[in-house]
Amino acid sequence: MNTNATWPSENAARAAIVDAARRTIALGINTGRAGNVSMRWHRGGADGLLITPSALAYEAMTIDDLVWLAVDAPAGEDTAAGQPLFADGARQPSSEWRLHRDLYAVRGDAGAIVHAHPPFATTLACLPRIHAEGIPAFHYMIAVAGGNDIRCAPYATFGTAELSAAARTALDGRRACLLAQHGLVALSGTLESALELAVEVESLARIYWQALQLGEPALLDATAMASVHARFSHYRPDREEPVQGAG
Ligand code: 13P
Repeated sequence: MNTNATWPSENAARAAIVDAARRTIALGINTGRAGNVSMRWHRGGADGLLITPSALAYEAMTIDDLVWLAVDAPAGEDTAAGQPLFADGARQPSSEWRLHRDLYAVRGDAGAIVHAHPPFATTLACLPRIHAEGIPAFHYMIAVAGGNDIRCAPYATFGTAELSAAARTALDGRRACLLAQHGLVALSGTLESALELAVEVESLARIYWQALQLGEPALLDATAMASVHARFSHYRPDREEPVQGAG
């Protein structure tokens, strides 16, 4: 996936990332400085990504604050201070740069990644039953995440290689997952579509939470979900493109 062709210039792509990051606040899926946004961006022959900087309020962010990283940096070539070696930017990249970079490395279908701490998805991600089962197929729209459930990656400290590995596994064959005691990750071909997916997952999390208040939600079986995936290939072709494994 090469998203460069979508934009007239790198600055236009940078402006779209800053705009998407600000919209995560307006859409209620992030508060304060939480979350981060990236887009795959090639420079010369090098596969790479543009990512929001670490711990900077979105209102204050400008296009010059974004950081470019190489995707193909070999393991072990990150600095002792935990920063990527092949980075270009005045600021430090998001503390989750490794999660974004490692996903682009194994997920050719990823053109953009949104990480957020939405209230309902994060509430669910604190429950042992969600750690064990994820969000099951209580509603047909679960299919937007690529499968018949939305998994929850086990807890690991933010910004670590452990969290990156856990997210990769939870996203195997999926476009979105929860992160235990943390939030969610959504990836898609475009920035717009990754942002929309993050909002869709938060909406599903809210409805699942509401249903759990009233009783034990009924689940759709594999046959019913197969029918949804088949229909999505016409109705939501953007959500039925092949979903890749974690590699
Ligand atoms: P950054 O500001 O470093 O991107 O961290 C925010 C976050 O959500 C970490 O998981």
